[in-house]
Amino acid sequence: MALAFKQETFRNDYKYSNSPNAIKRFPFPFAEDQYMYSVNIEPHVKGKTGSVSEFAFDVDEHYVGECLDKQLTLDLDRGRYAALPHMMDAQWDFVELTMEALSNDYPEHFSLKKEGLNWTWENKPLNIKQSFVFGDASTMPMDPFEFMSKQVQGDFVLLDQRDETLYADAGFVTSQADWSLAFDVGMSWREWHAPVPRATELGVMDRALKYLLNLQLGSPVRRLNWTMTVNPRLDTSPENYPLWGTDRNTVNPENVADKVHLRVELQSLFRLPRSNGIVFSIRCYLMSLRELSSYPRWAKRLHRVQKTMHPDLIEYKGMTKFHPMMVEWLSQFDDGSAMAVGT
Ligand code: HEM
Repeated sequence: MALAFKQETFRNDYKYSNSPNAIKRFPFPFAEDQYMYSVNIEPHVKGKTGSVSEFAFDVDEHYVGECLDKQLTLDLDRGRYAALPHMMDAQWDFVELTMEALSNDYPEHFSLKKEGLNWTWENKPLNIKQSFVFGDASTMPMDPFEFMSKQVQGDFVLLDQRDETLYADAGFVTSQADWSLAFDVGMSWREWHAPVPRATELGVMDRALKYLLNLQLGSPVRRLNWTMTVNPRLDTSPENYPLWGTDRNTVNPENVADKVHLRVELQSLFRLPRSNGIVFSIRCYLMSLRELSSYPRWAKRLHRVQKTMHPDLIEYKGMTKFHPMMVEWLSQFDDGSAMAVGT
């Protein structure tokens, strides 16, 4: 289906909604009535036509609005982009991966022409055309990683692999669920995951790291992560906490269905050919409870998941203030009958 890009805002007046097709393809993350952290990694193989995993990087109706919001966030705080000097090979790996993927998968919107190392990239929705010499950063208007991170939906971290662990040595992060790139840049796997409750005891982090250290070129993987966000706001960063943290106090039983959004991250990881680094892509999808309830089985499932949520996760995910109201609103969709595993 041809993509029509919407005019949207992810702050202030929040002009954002999902079309019926966007709701239908939403990556609803709960296959069971309970939720706990697990090593939910699977191969990032081609999904069904029209699904969010049809292509390596999903471009949808929110593309233009999200790219404009990225630029706004970066203009207000340059610290959302960082790249340590030894990550230049990984930056070019990222450029190659994303330009090739977008131009192959969405040829009506993106094109890449190569004559040896002389490349020309065209992005029609954002009206960008750039010729450059691949591998020569002086021919780009900015860092190559920054240039392409601005043109693909989601956040990106470039990981360096050394000493049997991964280091977050570069990133473009403007739509994070309350963590800070400026704080985490240069940290190792165990350091940046330290605040996550219960995951260490469950052994999730050690097993996931072991898996990723063996990630192979050409065999990317993915997982879903989720939280709940008040208002369709992409930039829920600690740096801007004063701008969004208090929104949690504005939720009441009348507005809970429109204010509270399920925020799902489609996280994918690709081994990189020159640097032997890894790209960690975090693509955020937002859907209000009201939109979600157009599929009553999702509302029923979410009710069960939230009702039985571990208190440490309610607190860590910042849901404490509105959690009871959310569970109460969702309860109207739950008749108590059994649900099969799957979504
Ligand atoms: C948080 C697991 C890969 C960065 C988390 C959480 C889990 C998790 C369960 C808590 C999320 C929540 O409750 O909302 C995993 C697994 C991975 C993985 C299983 C393997 C694929 C990565 C990678 C990065 C990363 C590659 C790269 C930077 C983070 C950060 C947080 C986080 C920054 C937030 C921590 C905080 O509260 O400050 N991760 N993760 N994760 N993860 Fe991962």
